[in-house]
Amino acid sequence: MTIILGIESTAHTFGVAIVGDYKPYILSDVRRVYTPREGGILPREVAPFFSKVASECIREALAKAGLTVRDIDAIAIALGPGMGPQLRVGASVARALSSYYSKPLVPVNHAVAHIEIARFLTSLKDPIVLYVAGGNTTVVSYSEGKYRVFGETLDMPLGNLLDTFAREVKIAPPYIVGGRHAIDNCAEGGDFIEGLPYIVKGQDSSFSGLLTAALRLYKSGYKLKDICFTLREIAYSSVVEVLERGLAHTGKKQILLTGGVAASDLLNEKIAVMASLHGAEFKPIPKAYTGDNGVMIALTGLVAYKWGITIEPSKAFIRQRWRIDQVDIPWYYDFPPVEV
Ligand code: FE2
Repeated sequence: MTIILGIESTAHTFGVAIVGDYKPYILSDVRRVYTPREGGILPREVAPFFSKVASECIREALAKAGLTVRDIDAIAIALGPGMGPQLRVGASVARALSSYYSKPLVPVNHAVAHIEIARFLTSLKDPIVLYVAGGNTTVVSYSEGKYRVFGETLDMPLGNLLDTFAREVKIAPPYIVGGRHAIDNCAEGGDFIEGLPYIVKGQDSSFSGLLTAALRLYKSGYKLKDICFTLREIAYSSVVEVLERGLAHTGKKQILLTGGVAASDLLNEKIAVMASLHGAEFKPIPKAYTGDNGVMIALTGLVAYKWGITIEPSKAFIRQRWRIDQVDIPWYYDFPPVEV
């Protein structure tokens, strides 16, 4: 029996969760999300918020699991990729817990964790993955020990495109209302309009030109709902095209969608249609686990720990640009790491 406490602090969510390698696996899942009153996420505002909520999150996660720190086998920490000030708060807390209670520390890559929780929740063992969020837009699949990047955004991530446009036209924050992005709500009843660029270069996406063109149409007086509808349609279609190319190229038979934008019903629908055209298996993940959470860090930490992956607290530096293809995944075919 192995029990891991995982800490997530890469962006706007401070998450602490406890998982075990026995049913029900997820023993607790505590989250505090920073929501700006206006503008985007400013690290200098989020980091103090994280510092304030960290200890209560840990206490709450332990209480909900009915455990004490002494019952925990190891501490898993998302060391990157992410925003420096927030990462430093989580890393400091994790290093302190690890040192003070003499618990091994397990380094976790946030992007890998988004994929591993999706594999865990869907039981899809060997998929091609579209990971799309505020800070990432990547198509990856596993090959020879690592997740390999098949295609990615050349400029801004898709989630950032949606957030930035929504902010610029003053329909956000809040970015998510009723479980839907502000762009989704705005696009209701909209029509497709001409004038926005669809860009896929080789296997990569590009969204900055789309953002600029959409803002230009907005300033020229086009209906906002039509721009939102078209912007979303183009952005989603371009990543699904890259995903489809990846599916054909790798010969994988399964598809996963993960990351914050995986909460989009429309994106799930588009992928389901594409998957059926290719006879590939696609399962959406529950919305509760599309965004950042401590469970994905604890779960990935659990399997990494079982493979002997730990780090000395004194060497556990944050890695703001830690790429997914730099991480060894020795456990890939032995996943999930649980007794069923
Ligand atoms: Fe994330």
